[in-house]
Amino acid sequence: MPKRVLITEPIPGKAEAYLKSAGFEVTVGTRKEFDEEQALKAALNEFDGAITMLSNPVNKTVLKENPQLKIVANYAVGYNNIDVEAARSLGIHIANTPDVLSEATADIALLLLLATSRKIREAEDQLRQGEFDGWHPLGFLGTELHGKTAGIVGMGRIGGAIARRLRGFSINVLYHNRNRVNESVEQQTEATYCAEIDDMLPMCDFLFLSSPLTPQTHHIINETRLHLLKSESIIINTGRGPLIDEEALASALISGKIAGAGLDVFEKEPEIHPSLLKAPNTVLLPHIGSATRETREAMGMMAAKAVATVLNEEDIRDLPNIVV
Ligand code: DGY
Repeated sequence: MPKRVLITEPIPGKAEAYLKSAGFEVTVGTRKEFDEEQALKAALNEFDGAITMLSNPVNKTVLKENPQLKIVANYAVGYNNIDVEAARSLGIHIANTPDVLSEATADIALLLLLATSRKIREAEDQLRQGEFDGWHPLGFLGTELHGKTAGIVGMGRIGGAIARRLRGFSINVLYHNRNRVNESVEQQTEATYCAEIDDMLPMCDFLFLSSPLTPQTHHIINETRLHLLKSESIIINTGRGPLIDEEALASALISGKIAGAGLDVFEKEPEIHPSLLKAPNTVLLPHIGSATRETREAMGMMAAKAVATVLNEEDIRDLPNIVV
């Protein structure tokens, strides 16, 4: 009997074909089919392995009902939708897709900085509404990037890729991370460690959030910390929505406590906080950090290889993406 793999919704590239050619029986779900616990829990009964999306709740109940699973490979670097401890105790492997999406995600972070610092959304809206009446000295004054200071919260692979890009714009880079990164990464990124986030925030013209969502990082940027930022500062979030208290962020933007925000992720995706939609100088994107064809194909292959390796009972020690 061939082993069975569920890919919970269609993904681009050759992952499905690769798994089939490796002898697995592959079923591909439809978009949103497995976004509810009940549907996912019931469907997984039939499978030995799965490639899941970050919208699939791979929680304790789902895993406990499916102890036959050998591996769940999340089609994302973040895996806050998965109860990793429950998987560990049941002996189910969890994999993710690190590295392959770092450059694409860092590009989106910089795009958000450029768009917010130069008021691109308002400027383009005005032009499209037929209100462009010629160049004028006061039109859409933005802020210069050169010589400014950015702080990065979360100096993993994506944080590092953001730092390298910022140095290309001659921006000084500070970072706060759970642990100080090794010297070679600091040298490569020319980033300076701040042990206390509260010491870093007042120095930042631009603040980037790039950490995983954990109980420790939930609302790491709250109302109190927003007050530590300069009024000219801009926040960019490409990590996870709940890193910021969105209610507090929207108030800070509307009251002018901070100057702008570029967000690719939201607290209650796909819902967008209504006040954010009204806030000035805010660029909001529908979670597209990793959305390049090359990256999404590479994510698929990385997840598929982890699934094949585990189901074939091969050595997983060389795989870079086994979480447990
Ligand atoms: C991730 O990988 O965690 C992103 O949010 C989606 O690519």
